[in-house]
Amino acid sequence: MKLTTSYLGLTLDNPLVIGASPYCDNTYVARQLQDAGAAALVMRSLFEEQIDAEQRALLHHVEGSAESSPEATSYFPSYSEYQLTPDHYLRQLEHLKKSLSIPIIASLNGSRAGGWTEYARRFEAAGADAVELNLYQLVTNPAIPGDQVEADMLETVGSVAAAVKIPVAVKISPFHTSLVNFAVALENAGAKGVVLFNRFYQPDFNLEDLEVHPQLKLSDPSELLLRLRWLAIISPHVQHSLSASGGVHTAEDIVKALLAGADTVQLVSVILKNGPRFLSTLLAGLNNWLVDHGYESVDQLRGTMNLDRCPDPSAFERANYIRILQSWRV
Ligand SMILES: Cc1cc2nc3c(=O)[nH]c(=O)nc-3n(C[C@H](O)[C@H](O)[C@H](O)COP(=O)(O)O)c2cc1C
Repeated sequence: MKLTTSYLGLTLDNPLVIGASPYCDNTYVARQLQDAGAAALVMRSLFEEQIDAEQRALLHHVEGSAESSPEATSYFPSYSEYQLTPDHYLRQLEHLKKSLSIPIIASLNGSRAGGWTEYARRFEAAGADAVELNLYQLVTNPAIPGDQVEADMLETVGSVAAAVKIPVAVKISPFHTSLVNFAVALENAGAKGVVLFNRFYQPDFNLEDLEVHPQLKLSDPSELLLRLRWLAIISPHVQHSLSASGGVHTAEDIVKALLAGADTVQLVSVILKNGPRFLSTLLAGLNNWLVDHGYESVDQLRGTMNLDRCPDPSAFERANYIRILQSWRV
């Protein structure tokens, strides 16, 4: 069975990638993931705010400036709360590259163009095989229109892609008015792949102390459905790679993401729940499914249920929404 897949122009042994997470902080654990079958690893993100803070600190040191951003001192984590400093991150990247043979993807997380995008070049110099740029932005200011947000994001993608020769993937949220248009625009801005989607960790209210509590819940397979829909809609329209991130928990989930048009799937929650060795169970399950259903390769399966090729494209569209609502009687 040919499980190889091409992602961002890299040839991977199979479609299973470990998504951005703390896993790469520890080289021993990263090696366990490689040994269990991971085809590539994405490091945790280095954040725009973290890099800006470092650059401000340097400026402060050099110029004796008292300048500081109120944003950075109030809501955001203090510099010491980040798990890896930018320098430590680069050293860990170099260490991973020396110790492992699979591609290592370094991750930047931000939204507005600025000096922090310069770090993509440092990732490249430290040996990264690709950069994943997570465009996580939550707009709470009513004066900022949607097209401005997307224009800023595209500018950021353009500046990161122009800074490096290695491929750049962009991890986006599902909250864009015309997602296919945005995916094509990302490609035109220089992205070699799109990761669908960012997970937004929704804060909850505590009714006793009337405070807002941020929380990190691991995903469950129901989250995959949103990814399947948009992979199926976007994949006929783009040349670049697509990766499904969010809610992939079983071999069947992997098959579904590939059918919808993904080149790779990214796994985090399922590995946090079951441990690195679960990767080999997932790979065996994928292999068995392909054999049982008469496929010879992952390539043969990919995209066969996308909007252009599935037997009933209306299942993805408004018509089906109306049909589903009309099917209920009480
Ligand atoms: C503990 C933890 C840390 C994460 N850190 C990052 C990160 O630094 N950057 C990023 O882009 N995504 C990060 N993510 C999100 C994952 O990469 C992934 O998109 C998300 O968990 C959905 O995939 P899953 O359903 O397989 O968990 C993190 C997720 C978890 C659970």
